[in-house]
Amino acid sequence: MSHLGKFKIAWMVGIIVLFVVSFGLNTEAKMSIEKQPFGKTPDGTAVDLYTLTNDNGMVVKIMNYGGTVTSLIVPDRNGKMGDVVLGYDNLDGYLKNNPYFGSIIGRYANRIAKGRFVLNGVEYKLAQNNGENHLHGGIKGFDKVVWNAKEVKTGNGVGVELSYLSKDGEEGYPGNLSVTVTYILTNNNELKINYLATTDKDTVVNLTHHSYFNLAGAGEGDILGHELMINADKFTPVDKTLIPTGELRSVKGTPMDFTQPTAIGARINQEDEQLIFGKGYDHNWVLNIVEGALTRVARVYEPKTGRVMEVFTTEPGMQFYSGNFLDGTITGKGGKVYYQRYGFCLETQHFPDSPNKPQFPSTVLKPGQTYRTTTVYQFSTK
Ligand code: GLA
Repeated sequence: MSHLGKFKIAWMVGIIVLFVVSFGLNTEAKMSIEKQPFGKTPDGTAVDLYTLTNDNGMVVKIMNYGGTVTSLIVPDRNGKMGDVVLGYDNLDGYLKNNPYFGSIIGRYANRIAKGRFVLNGVEYKLAQNNGENHLHGGIKGFDKVVWNAKEVKTGNGVGVELSYLSKDGEEGYPGNLSVTVTYILTNNNELKINYLATTDKDTVVNLTHHSYFNLAGAGEGDILGHELMINADKFTPVDKTLIPTGELRSVKGTPMDFTQPTAIGARINQEDEQLIFGKGYDHNWVLNIVEGALTRVARVYEPKTGRVMEVFTTEPGMQFYSGNFLDGTITGKGGKVYYQRYGFCLETQHFPDSPNKPQFPSTVLKPGQTYRTTTVYQFSTK
């Protein structure tokens, strides 16, 4: 063989070796969406589970029953992956007994006093499914319906677009409400939620997302050691049935002050009327935002794993619920039992009972208007 021939072969071998090696090393995940059947509701409607993976290997699983986030898997400071949301292994758990794990909440998230409100001079009566009050959209809220689902891909993420038509009169609310909620997992390790709704009659709308987070991992102890910052100088104090009194009260000098990062458990058991009413934290914070501008409103840090979650929203309020009603009667994913305060929720929203509180930002939606809000949960480590 000529000199030139040997040279060519050496080159080719070199290129092949390079190709094989780089292919072998390239083990990083690539953005993807997978869909699989996840069982059927009692009336026979098929439910699907969508698995979203981003370029960093972060995984979010969402089913179209209740628009529910069933898993959210992120690395800790050593790169170890862990599922940081509470939930069940299968659909059955969600159908039987679900304290809104991971769900979309609507038509009206949170409470409406005594299950009634007046709009344009007409009184509307809603289910009183939380003592004498209405909670989270009623008996069959948006957390218990099967949504239409469509896969979406953007330049920087993968997601699912969920849509649902809530008929005029459903759960007592006026107007056909057409709702679209889009979940996007981005390559910046964000779970981004866009909410959109239109109506054909004046109605009230308030949508949120109800994941119970535990940044140490679902079922891995309580959340009292998590350090929380909430960008809010005021909150809406409640009566003993958790309905806002209408006052916007300063957090200064109270256990509600999270303007500086503070362990959730540091003051939770103090003799404080508000904490007693909520059995812990279950209140709405008045966020320091320009309404409509996406603003960072909360940051949570878990010291053992180094996991950090930041919340951004366009909403004026956020319910911080410290999982006070979990009581060890639920066995969740992987056989782990959820005891009191094993998860916390940061539910971005309009203020509770706004339909009966004219001084609060309005939750009325009229024909021709579009309800549009965005909330982002972003994950990192420290
Ligand atoms: C919301 C409410 C809480 C509780 C949970 C679900 O966060 O504010 O009082 O009802 O939902 O248990």
